Amino acid sequence: MRLKNIKKYTPGFNIHDIQKKYNLKKVIKLASNENPFISKDVLTFIKKSNHKLNLYPDSNPDELHRLLANTIGHRMTSNNVILGNGSNEILEFIVRANVDNKSEVIIPKHSFLVYEIISKLQNAKIIISKPDNDKASENYLGINLESVKGKITKKTKLIFIANPANPTGTYIKLSEIDNFLQLVPKNISVIIDEAYYEYLNPKINKSAVSLIRKYKNLYVTRSFSKIYGLASLRVGYGISSQENISKLKTYKQPFNSNLFAQKAALLALKDFMFTRASKENNDIARIKLTDLFNELSIDYLGTYCNFITFRAGRQSKQLFEYLLKKGVIVRPLTNYGLTDYLRVSLGTPIDNNVFIKHMKSFYSDKI
Ligand SMILES: Cc1ncc(COP(=O)(O)O)c(C=O)c1O
Repeated sequence: MRLKNIKKYTPGFNIHDIQKKYNLKKVIKLASNENPFISKDVLTFIKKSNHKLNLYPDSNPDELHRLLANTIGHRMTSNNVILGNGSNEILEFIVRANVDNKSEVIIPKHSFLVYEIISKLQNAKIIISKPDNDKASENYLGINLESVKGKITKKTKLIFIANPANPTGTYIKLSEIDNFLQLVPKNISVIIDEAYYEYLNPKINKSAVSLIRKYKNLYVTRSFSKIYGLASLRVGYGISSQENISKLKTYKQPFNSNLFAQKAALLALKDFMFTRASKENNDIARIKLTDLFNELSIDYLGTYCNFITFRAGRQSKQLFEYLLKKGVIVRPLTNYGLTDYLRVSLGTPIDNNVFIKHMKSFYSDKI
């Protein structure tokens, strides 16, 4: 694969650029699915002045590994976990460990763009499966496991499944994932990317971690960038069999997670009040925004994450620019093959109200 054939990842616009461009005092970013809040415990730690920045960080932070294993449950131990510089780094390790230039990698249509980039960097052939096209289903445009299965060949080495998925916000039941994994040949690795797992209702929507003992070819990845509010510090982790994790560690640089990332992850994991409040805020925001979309007769996709992808139709570019000028950054989804859609992250109550106000004025101007 020639490097110039790989489309670079385009992050959401940043606040400063939009402030400058439109001469705005206040700009709200609802474009990258970040938690709008930070744990106070994390802030207190960061504000201290006696950090030993001159020393390398711990290359194997035991306490964090143990707490992670405990939090994950399902009889996982520290040896089932690997820490990364964001879960993106773990995805990269898995690709590098399993894929070469003779491999095919199956990526569902409308998936997180990083999957394709890192697989192409290994010179793998990308095979895109079809989305769920059933408009009546709450999985509309989400992952179609039947199509994924249909794409498996002798050359397939890796399958990416985000659950819940970005940018469609859709979720697949654990029983369906289990049935799917039973049919996948054991020489094919499967990643279940659970970056948004913590926003689910744990009583109903189960994690694939419970299947790790059953399927040796299964990897689950999780992130501290979402509900734990640490996107800037870059922390994520992978969970798999001890053999797989040991293999992935070969790809890990000794100091891939820094001092702040490690300590903040530990504090955020322990700060139950913070994660609970973040989830509650998200649940309330989801209702508020789905009410808005219903009121404006705007269709939207799955709502299992901390964002909602909604159909702005042919006006999507115009609406995106209108919101930008008002100081609200949302995410266009043309790169994801969803040209008619925009994605809005769920923010603070105040920021959500600003978004709602400008949405209403855009659509009332149109009538
Ligand atoms: C589906 C999915 N996986 C992984 C990531 C990357 O997360 P991290 O910040 O942990 O690298 C994201 C980030 O938006 C995502 O949407």
